[in-house]
Amino acid sequence: MLSPYKILKSAQLNHYAIGAFNACNLELIKAIVISAHRLKSSVIIATSEGESEFIGMRKIRKIIDVWQEELNIPIILHLDHGHSLEKIKEAINSGYDSVHFDGSSLCLEDNIKTTKKVVNYVKKKNSGIIVEGELGYLRGSSELHSGVEIKEDDLTDPDEALEFIEKTGVDSLAVAIGNIHGIIKKQSNSSGLKYRNPHLYLSRLKQIKEKVEDKVFLVLHGGSGTPEGDIKKAIDLGIIKVNINTELRIAFSNTLRKILKEKKNEIVPYRIMPAVIDAVEKVVMEKIKLFGSVNSILK
Ligand code: G3H
Ligand code: ZN
Repeated sequence: MLSPYKILKSAQLNHYAIGAFNACNLELIKAIVISAHRLKSSVIIATSEGESEFIGMRKIRKIIDVWQEELNIPIILHLDHGHSLEKIKEAINSGYDSVHFDGSSLCLEDNIKTTKKVVNYVKKKNSGIIVEGELGYLRGSSELHSGVEIKEDDLTDPDEALEFIEKTGVDSLAVAIGNIHGIIKKQSNSSGLKYRNPHLYLSRLKQIKEKVEDKVFLVLHGGSGTPEGDIKKAIDLGIIKVNINTELRIAFSNTLRKILKEKKNEIVPYRIMPAVIDAVEKVVMEKIKLFGSVNSILK
């Protein structure tokens, strides 16, 4: 497999983004890798701290290794929103290819100081592991919300972004440009529930990109529910990784609920789960197409 750095660099050079899809069980992993294989796309499988604890970091590493051997596609295993150096160390010792240290709740000075510690620790290992830092305040969590208010102060400041990447040496930077974690649920007149998140502040992204140029890989968290046109424009403006979690969780849970309701007497997991996997695959494939990474393994 190409190194994670080369995989991300190829996205930057060729102006597409790689999907980082969160997973915590065999069914989600299967749906993600099968979709990526079908569309010949590089893919990132991400586990948050909670998801990592549920599946086990060493276990997911082995599971991904087996899929990678069988399908021969580049799969980057990534720790998502690690909040301490201990978690980062645990992921690295378990064989993760990429780690995200989220110091965004700290003041700029402490965020730089702690992220730098993470970068120093990781780079000492000389292993090609990617380090992602985060700057700006991303509201919400990967669930359904009735409303989330974004404030101008939440957004990543372009000058601070440049200072952050120069002082920490991170490979990637997650930015706050009006994106939120999760999906805002709205009641529509005709067809029940409708999902729609606010528009991105694309002009802010443009200013950030002008400052940091190609010195860092720009990452968009909270990809679920974001207007598709905004995602496309954000990729044109330099985003090379888009994180998706909530839409997978919705596809998984809603389909599972539906199947169990329809087939009240069905108790065999391998007859229940295929429809759930199909529903998640549909979302993953739509995103891979939207991000422009179809056939990226050939680039
Ligand atoms: O880190 C994970 C992502 O930012 C997922 O965000 O749940 O809004 O897709 P999302
Ligand atoms: Zn996130």
